[in-house]
Amino acid sequence: MQKIAPFTPPRPKSLGPLSALLRAAITRDGNLIGLLPKEVYRVSSGTIGYSRRSIIILNDPKVVRTILTDPTDIYPKNDLMVGAVAPLIGDSIFVSHADTWRKQRAMVAPAFTHMRLSAAFQSMTGALSDFEKQLERDAGSGTPFSLDMAMSHLTADVICRTVFSTTLKSQIAKDVFEAFSIFERSVAHVEIRRLIMDPPWNDIPQHEHVLEACAKIRDCLGQLLDSHLQPGANYKDIAADIIGARDDDDKPFTREELIDQLGVFFLAGHETSASVLTWCFYVLATQPDIVARVREEVEAIAGDAPLKLSHIRDLHFARAVFKETLRLYPPITFIPRVAAEATKIGKRKIKKGAMLMIAPWVIHRHHDYWDKPDEFDAERFMPEREKDIIDGSYMPFGLGPRVCVGANFATIEATLIIAQLARNFDFSMQPGQTVRPVARLTTRPAEQIILRAKRR
Ligand code: HEM
Repeated sequence: MQKIAPFTPPRPKSLGPLSALLRAAITRDGNLIGLLPKEVYRVSSGTIGYSRRSIIILNDPKVVRTILTDPTDIYPKNDLMVGAVAPLIGDSIFVSHADTWRKQRAMVAPAFTHMRLSAAFQSMTGALSDFEKQLERDAGSGTPFSLDMAMSHLTADVICRTVFSTTLKSQIAKDVFEAFSIFERSVAHVEIRRLIMDPPWNDIPQHEHVLEACAKIRDCLGQLLDSHLQPGANYKDIAADIIGARDDDDKPFTREELIDQLGVFFLAGHETSASVLTWCFYVLATQPDIVARVREEVEAIAGDAPLKLSHIRDLHFARAVFKETLRLYPPITFIPRVAAEATKIGKRKIKKGAMLMIAPWVIHRHHDYWDKPDEFDAERFMPEREKDIIDGSYMPFGLGPRVCVGANFATIEATLIIAQLARNFDFSMQPGQTVRPVARLTTRPAEQIILRAKRR
């Protein structure tokens, strides 16, 4: 079996609180992880002192579980995030609260059952095969490519095919994708300033061009939806499942509500997967031992045959690479909640309006829960070691009732993409690049990573 040398991938240098704040002010790249002082990776909780609102960071897995599974509805999602995404996804499953959310979750979850995932797998392989053709052309001509853009295209294509049975090549899907890029570039920048300066529940004025991008996306999603709503339409995809869903009073979603929900799949379903796959392929482009081990495994499980869903289950190492990348670069860097009323967590008094920062980025690198926390070691997630992971210290998909509805979908998608591309291509970094993670809408490299591919 291929031996793997220890390796520590990039992270922001940990500074003291003031220096961290100064660095964030100087770089002005909206990077929340750059703001975190070095102590935060060693304490069970603490306050972030330079904000007008009370911000409490909670690192203790037991406390985190209490908040994320609280049945009394006093910890809604963070108002800044809800305000930022509202023009795109309204009051849909990702942001809604209490009974509204419970009703939506019950209607949406069946679209992600095993049966639907088997059908989705065909769409995933279709998107991947088209992607490989493009990569082969780039490889043949020696053209370098942006890893970030490539992964965004691939995962957006997967979402278009699985949700709407259309490909990203269609003009309408291209329009959604472009407008989405504008939206995502702007939202995170608003946040740092507001987090520090604004009192809770302040209205968030969005820039005009962001609102235009949201309107454009919703219009395109509406057109894609209308093709499904035509009499006699016979689609077998996620959109069709959501259209067919009924609540307890046998009522379906309205057209506007459908656009909200389908917008979530675009927002939550492609950007997150693109983020983690960008980091996975950064690792694969720089760590030949890991690539060799993935190839060894793919050959042992599937030989030369095309990868099937039944193979994906057995690709333990490829999946462990995905999980370890999710640990070090969780796409959803922070899972913040707000205390809707004054309360107590343990002995700590919590003011009404306080922001409760649950940070996968921090908990996944916390010295109390992980051995050599900053080191990339995919073996942590191999079956014989995974059982030792401390309960609640790993939460890339969240925890409790609001855990990501697409977690299995994303795991199958990423394992397939890692295995298939590592099997068929060698990747290398264009020389002279500095890779620096930043927290935007998801955890991303500050500058795009440029790779070259070579067909094996
Ligand atoms: C690697 C990929 C992904 C990651 C890391 C991820 C992460 C997360 C996290 C952390 C949450 C919980 C947020 C919170 O509690 O505040 C969440 C919720 C959600 N995700 Fe994902 N996600 C991924 C892929 C997907 C995909 C592929 C879909 C759908 C196609 C999806 C749909 C959703 C939805 C609808 C919710 C809201 C669930 C609810 O509140 O009931 N996600 N995701």
